[in-house]
Amino acid sequence: MNAPAQVAATAACDYTQPAVHPDLGSEVCVHLHPEGVPLFIEPISERLKTDFTAFKAWFVGHEQALEKLLHQFAALRLRGFPVNGSEDFAQMMAHYPSADMGYTGGGTPRAALAGKVFEATRFPKNIRLPLHQEMSYLKHWPLKVGFYCHQPSEVGGATDIGLISRLESLLEPSFLERIRRHGLIYKRNFRDKYVESDDQLHPDLVSLHRPWQEAFFTEVRAEAQAACEKMGLEWRWLDDGSLETRYRSSGFVNHPVLGTRHMFNQANTMNTIDSGVNSINWPAYTKRYTNRPKPTECTFGDDTPMTHDEVMMYRQAGHKATVIVPWQKGEVMLIDNILVLHGRSPYEGERNIQVQLFGSGSHG
Ligand SMILES: [Fe+2]
Repeated sequence: MNAPAQVAATAACDYTQPAVHPDLGSEVCVHLHPEGVPLFIEPISERLKTDFTAFKAWFVGHEQALEKLLHQFAALRLRGFPVNGSEDFAQMMAHYPSADMGYTGGGTPRAALAGKVFEATRFPKNIRLPLHQEMSYLKHWPLKVGFYCHQPSEVGGATDIGLISRLESLLEPSFLERIRRHGLIYKRNFRDKYVESDDQLHPDLVSLHRPWQEAFFTEVRAEAQAACEKMGLEWRWLDDGSLETRYRSSGFVNHPVLGTRHMFNQANTMNTIDSGVNSINWPAYTKRYTNRPKPTECTFGDDTPMTHDEVMMYRQAGHKATVIVPWQKGEVMLIDNILVLHGRSPYEGERNIQVQLFGSGSHG
């Protein structure tokens, strides 16, 4: 990187070339990805490149400035700082408010690592996880998501991101209007991990169809029910021992700081379709779920199912809005969960990306 130019004021910084930002001090520089997201922040001083304690003090000391930049740019990518391991990741962000909901009722499997740090999803590595806003299919959801790269994969494996404003501009206005008018209904089914079905679950579908015992972190039905009620989900037990939940949402939220209203839902990921490259095992999926409740489904709020074409249109808009920035070891990314969506590129080899959720938002 070239030596950054000193700028006199924020307004003088156009973010296209690495430059010192007056609100962040002289030890770091910033520049914006050409596609408009994320904003990179990198150390200039030797001490912020090598001394975790110094870096942490800088990070905590500039909380307000970083918050302002997060609202302006939606995603901050901290590159080249000495973050090494889950403990560092937990410590540097310990001053951020926790997300009350944790990962209870989350959509994909993951394990806790240290404190509030979880591993990234164990979703199959050959499948692209489409852009989404974390837990937007639940009543309570995190305001921010932090990611840390402990080990980048050899091929692929980026945490894809995309601006919600860009996605909204790419979706058919009539589709957005239907969500605005009717809202959305999310229907989910959680299998019982101890019940063998007459045609055993295909290995490719195991992570897609989660057991309620894992999704709600309990072996006790009453506790799973209580968790559903706390999350505002309607629930019922089916004859095969599975748990079915239903949740109605407006599909939009107001940003708590900016006041802007944005689409906030997972209609694209909650509807499983045969989307060609990097699709799930579609023959196994249709064989299993033709006459059974699907693991996840999202309809319009008047109970009208979304068509294959509507889901494809949503996903293709997501592809167009996607910005892919390969991970570097030790990088941390902080995203505003309303302003920016995230996903995951398919990958090969080992990959260790870790996640923390911060702040609590609600559909009300
Ligand atoms: Fe996610």
